[in-house]
Amino acid sequence: MVLSHTMRAVEITAAGGPEVLKPCILPVPVPGHGQIVIRVAWAGVNRPDALQRAGMYAPPANASPLPGLEASGTVVELGAGVTRWQIGDRVTALLPGGGYAEYAVTMADHALPVPEGMSLREAACLPETCFTVWSNVVMRGGLKGGERFLVHGGSSGIGTTAIQIARALGARVFVTAGSAKKCAACLDLGAERAFNYRDEDWAAEVKGMGGADLILDMVGGPYIARNIRALADEGRLVQIAFLQGARAEVNFAEMMTRRLVLTGSTLRPQSDLAKARIAAEVEAHVWPLIRTGRFAPVMDSEFPLDRAAEAHARMEGSGHVGKIVLKVE
Ligand SMILES: NC(=O)c1ccc[n+]([C@@H]2O[C@H](COP(=O)([O-])OP(=O)(O)OC[C@H]3O[C@@H](n4cnc5c(N)ncnc54)[C@H](OP(=O)(O)O)[C@@H]3O)[C@@H](O)[C@H]2O)c1
Repeated sequence: MVLSHTMRAVEITAAGGPEVLKPCILPVPVPGHGQIVIRVAWAGVNRPDALQRAGMYAPPANASPLPGLEASGTVVELGAGVTRWQIGDRVTALLPGGGYAEYAVTMADHALPVPEGMSLREAACLPETCFTVWSNVVMRGGLKGGERFLVHGGSSGIGTTAIQIARALGARVFVTAGSAKKCAACLDLGAERAFNYRDEDWAAEVKGMGGADLILDMVGGPYIARNIRALADEGRLVQIAFLQGARAEVNFAEMMTRRLVLTGSTLRPQSDLAKARIAAEVEAHVWPLIRTGRFAPVMDSEFPLDRAAEAHARMEGSGHVGKIVLKVE
């Protein structure tokens, strides 16, 4: 297949607000060993894209400086050593960056087939959230059926994914969210209780129910001490972001006397091998949930690629429930 040499993309012209995202023309990426080039149909928008744009989340070395951690589309070029994919295959892939563009390059084993019956629009929303949720909730957090699981930001892309996957595993799910509408959306997805953190003491409520066996937190700051209080004995706290800061005063004696585990991870800087292992787990455990109708991405809104700034403004306005996507093709 002959690719054009240049492509439309959206770049970060300086650290700042959504307005620093500007359309541009760039060379089409070239695949290295073990990599594929995808003609992007849809790109998922994630909070880390906004952090990168604001200058708070630098891309790893060798990654595209363009934002965009996930995209769906068609394989158009194979690097040396790629055996899993053929030109023309429809895939959805985790990207090291570069999703806000007509073409994106990634490791072949970070791509997964578009689930049968799913549109490319929905499929674009799967990798970043499914990889993050599966690796933190199950691989790191060890969630099991029957356990009490508290997820903060329940209406976020991550939260809506975590609720459904945890319910499919048979866990009891509790969430926090910032409005009645968002709480209702979380209950619709299978959460047992949804606490509006603006007027409810979620830590006391969860503790009153026996405490959480696992908490997935993206807020940090003042939530850290409250999370520790809300954990059951032997509970695990998995930190995936710090929207309200990474510093807190904490009584670590509680960790010792109640045998708590405090951990966390971030996906993007992990090795290619680690991401490939997560991809294999997601394909083995989450793709069957999609096939059997137990998990589907919750779609909020779509924007054309060259209006990515509006997509970021919607995300940072926090009016959304679920995922925001960019239409690229
Ligand atoms: N560790 C990793 O590998 C990894 C990977 C992907 C994403 N993440 C993180 O996971 C989080 C969710 O990502 P996403 O893409 O799903 O984003 P998102 O949909 O924008 O979700 C962010 C959520 O956080 C809540 N929120 C925002 N600011 C807050 C604040 N100051 N205090 C309390 N809650 C706040 C918002 O809900 P309310 O309106 O209810 O407050 C919103 O639903 C982000 O923090 C992101 O950086 C981490």
